[in-house]
Amino acid sequence: MLEKIKALQDEIAALTASNKDEAEELRIKYLSKKGIISQLFDEFKNVPVDQKKAIGSALNELKNQSLEKINELKQLYEAKRLGAEGLDLSLPGEIVPIGSRHPLAIVRNEIISIFSRLGFVVSEGPEIEDDWHVFSALNFPPEHPARDMQDTFFIEKDPDILLRTHTSSVQVRVMEKTQPPIRAIFPGRVFRNEAISYRAHCIFHQIEGLYVDENVSFADLKQTLLFFAREFFGDKTEIRLRPSYFPFTEPSAEMDVSCSICGGKGCNVCKHTGWLEIMGCGMVDPNVFERCGIDNKKYTGFAFGMGIERIAMLKYGIKDLRLFFENDVRFLNQFQVAY
Ligand code: DAH
Repeated sequence: MLEKIKALQDEIAALTASNKDEAEELRIKYLSKKGIISQLFDEFKNVPVDQKKAIGSALNELKNQSLEKINELKQLYEAKRLGAEGLDLSLPGEIVPIGSRHPLAIVRNEIISIFSRLGFVVSEGPEIEDDWHVFSALNFPPEHPARDMQDTFFIEKDPDILLRTHTSSVQVRVMEKTQPPIRAIFPGRVFRNEAISYRAHCIFHQIEGLYVDENVSFADLKQTLLFFAREFFGDKTEIRLRPSYFPFTEPSAEMDVSCSICGGKGCNVCKHTGWLEIMGCGMVDPNVFERCGIDNKKYTGFAFGMGIERIAMLKYGIKDLRLFFENDVRFLNQFQVAY
């Protein structure tokens, strides 16, 4: 038996392994319960008593030697794998959580993309505006209630400066600078002196549209908005225009779309009417053209304006507008888009 042990000692001293798995295989071969060394321990029971001491200590030595050797082989491989800097390049990478777009940005981008397919370009204007661009050029009479402090945030030191209450102000800026044809949309943030609730906020977003050229008619307005409604809400969508009033358009209308939730049959969202109001629109008032330096004998045009929050609430079935501004990641993470 001593010879056997000696032979095994030489064998183990010469062992090599080129990776961790091979080292593990060696451990199993020599040291597992059924391994070669364990078998020797079993045979040890039959060793005559007078040899037990010598063989016992040789066996223990063999076991320790092989344990050491195999650990050494494992560590050698580990060191090779980690490289000089001890970096384990085989570990899985750390997962960086992917952010998501804000639902208002998703809806704004979708609206922009629909109108850009019709040749509308995007323009932007300042959020801090003057009375002229927000009211006067848009044909608001001096006593109009929107000019009241109750509705509009004015700058205390100068009542001519205010936070724009609608993106229609960008119409004025574009028409002052550009002669027709004009085909543009104006997304942006607007401000109104409103109490914050589930359906109103003092800050919200709008998209305004403007189309000015020779011979632009109400039929063009209707067809453009029908195209938009079907692209956005689905190709079964119907639209309905109800007469309304805005100082800057004549005639003016309020546009409804057939309820995308119940398909027009009537439900809680459309208050059982089958219709959802989504925007104001109309033919640009000739007074507005005149104030912006555009020939109102030669040109006609249409304009429209919608609230992005309202459209997003309808698209996603969101019942409380305040969620858009709270930036709770549990809310925001639900809006994953591919682009
Ligand atoms: N500016 C209007 C608002 O904030 C929306 C609007 C209505 C815009 C009719 C338009 C329009 O261009 O033609 O309520």
